[in-house]
Amino acid sequence: MEIDVFTLFPQAFEWFRAQRHVANALSTGLRLECVNYRDHTPLNAGQVDDTPFGGGAGMVLRVDVVEAALRARYGRDPVELREDRRVVALTPSGRLLDEELVSELARAPALTLLSGRYEGFDERVLEHFASDRLSIGRYVLAGGELAAMVVCDAVIRKLPGALGHADSALEESFSEALEGAPEYPHYTRPAEYRGWRVPEVLLSGHHARVREWRLAQSRERAGKRRPLP
Ligand SMILES: C[S@@+](CC[C@H](N)C(=O)[O-])C[C@H]1O[C@@H](n2cnc3c(N)ncnc32)[C@H](O)[C@@H]1O
Repeated sequence: MEIDVFTLFPQAFEWFRAQRHVANALSTGLRLECVNYRDHTPLNAGQVDDTPFGGGAGMVLRVDVVEAALRARYGRDPVELREDRRVVALTPSGRLLDEELVSELARAPALTLLSGRYEGFDERVLEHFASDRLSIGRYVLAGGELAAMVVCDAVIRKLPGALGHADSALEESFSEALEGAPEYPHYTRPAEYRGWRVPEVLLSGHHARVREWRLAQSRERAGKRRPLP
């Protein structure tokens, strides 16, 4: 898989690239690269943004700057690019990221993430260059870099070779294996701590009963913690 992150702060991804599962995936074929809008701006003095028409606070990331960066990277008109590549603009009002969308993105051979800053993108970026608009939650971050890392983190841990134990990603919260329910509780040593005892079934060594108990716990949690509408 190849992931390109367009950003004004590529250095923010250095820490991310060194995380174990990301490093594992990078060593087994993932390509994760950053493109700095500023390196491709057609404007003077590295300008990438401008004041909003109609007035108001803040600066807006220019459409010509985003186009120049996309063209420099892919050598194509970005309007056509999105026909055969997922070009995901990060924006607070986009489709909410969930497990289903993460799995969908993880199946894509290539992904482009557009991070905004300031007041966000000129609307024409979203209308004409993006195939998707994605939000990591109904709150506003200062920039798209953390949102891009959230998307990359969730997607990359689904790639073969990313996790030490491939099974970890199969049976976890919201997975098909758990019928989309939250994961069951985990415990480790000590078996008793301050009088808080680990459920006996987990110490029984009886795999079928453990499995049954876990599924029941997971289903119970799904009932108790329904997502907010
Ligand atoms: C300060 S925000 C712009 C917010 C915009 N003025 C609004 O009210 O929707 C700057 C950039 O951060 C990113 N961003 C902020 N919150 C986000 C979220 N919840 N999900 C995805 N991206 C987000 C986007 O790329 C956005 O363009």
